[in-house]
Amino acid sequence: MSGFAAVDVIRTKRDGGVLSDAQIDWVVDAYTRGVVADEQMSALAMAILLRGMTPGEIARWTAAMIASGERLDLSGVSRPTVDKHSTGGVGDKITLPLTPLVAACGAAVPQLSGRGLGHTGGTLDKLESIPGWRAALTTEEFTAQLREVGAVICAAGERLAPADRKLYALRDVTGTVEAIPLIASSIMSKKIAEGTGALVLDVKVGSGAFMKSEEDARELARTMVELGTAHDVRTVALLTEMSTPLGRAVGNAVEVAESVEVLAGGGPADVVELTLVLAREMLVAVGLPDADPERALRDGRAMDVWRTMIRAQGGDPDAPLPAAPEVEVVRADRDGYVSAVDAYRIGIAAWRLGAGRARKEDPVSAAAGVVLHRKPGDPVRVGDPLYELRAEEPERIAAARADAAAAVSISTDPPEVRPLVIDRIG
Ligand code: URA
Repeated sequence: MSGFAAVDVIRTKRDGGVLSDAQIDWVVDAYTRGVVADEQMSALAMAILLRGMTPGEIARWTAAMIASGERLDLSGVSRPTVDKHSTGGVGDKITLPLTPLVAACGAAVPQLSGRGLGHTGGTLDKLESIPGWRAALTTEEFTAQLREVGAVICAAGERLAPADRKLYALRDVTGTVEAIPLIASSIMSKKIAEGTGALVLDVKVGSGAFMKSEEDARELARTMVELGTAHDVRTVALLTEMSTPLGRAVGNAVEVAESVEVLAGGGPADVVELTLVLAREMLVAVGLPDADPERALRDGRAMDVWRTMIRAQGGDPDAPLPAAPEVEVVRADRDGYVSAVDAYRIGIAAWRLGAGRARKEDPVSAAAGVVLHRKPGDPVRVGDPLYELRAEEPERIAAARADAAAAVSISTDPPEVRPLVIDRIG
């Protein structure tokens, strides 16, 4: 690969120019190898944030990130493969019931997931509250479980899109996370490298999401669908509501417990609805439009796959989940209707309770979290429980009170409740 001067690549983008394929290939590769320095890549990321990228540049950037590592080969898996990616939200535990559900309907679901940072939780943190469960699998274990069980949720290996691993950490500390070309290429490079045949994207919109505006979420969704399609991954995106937490549980063990309720045929209506909508999209994407996910929840087939999947990774699906010693129930101070439960503030409260981390290396509490007793639209009377705060230490409850209280509003008239699925793109 011919060499360039990093400063010329930075200047091109700084001045609003279009990077050539060769410049993109070089800069991504040279940065991964440590030849382009962090400060140079920071400047380039900021130039991309401010100037944007053309569709051609985004496609090439994504291809270069994929080429920085290995691309998994899932051709040995006889069932069609399909994955789901959510851009992240508060109480978003959908991966947990969805993965075994779609596997129970005949597809194979390779789910490489991450840990939480800030106010949104991470799937691996949630599953680690199950005694014995382990997130790290070798590539061989991953493909064997996919073949035998049809469902795997585990950590992405170091060799998958290493350029993204390095660049994402840099963006996190340089104010450049929010660039749509960089978010789209970051997510899609990992999903394409994972080897899935089809992909359903759940792009969240609202206070608890990355994308606060529908316009930005739409652009991100369109960009990702184009990238997937260009790499022969059948890709569709749903735009879904994230101004209110999903379900009633926000935390780690509490979200696992709620997911198990869904797999047992119960659970909150919004979690069940989104799980089924995404399951149907995934099954259509792999040519199984007649599969009936609702029935697979009802008749216990999805639960059977969940139990096998958890056991395959060392977990005990029957073990009691960690419980918090400190629990504070907060009650309504007047009659009316719950008009809002702000997802961002509840996410921050759960984080203050210990469910999330401030830095990548911080531990999380399995037992901490928020449990909502009322959701927007529900009527309340004075003294009814609104939500509870759970933590391992009383100081954590004190630290979370103000954010949780500010999240919940009560009105005299019933509010208009927004639909969960806003749009479909692809
Ligand atoms: N998630 C990712 O994997 N990458 C981003 O850039 C943002 C969210």
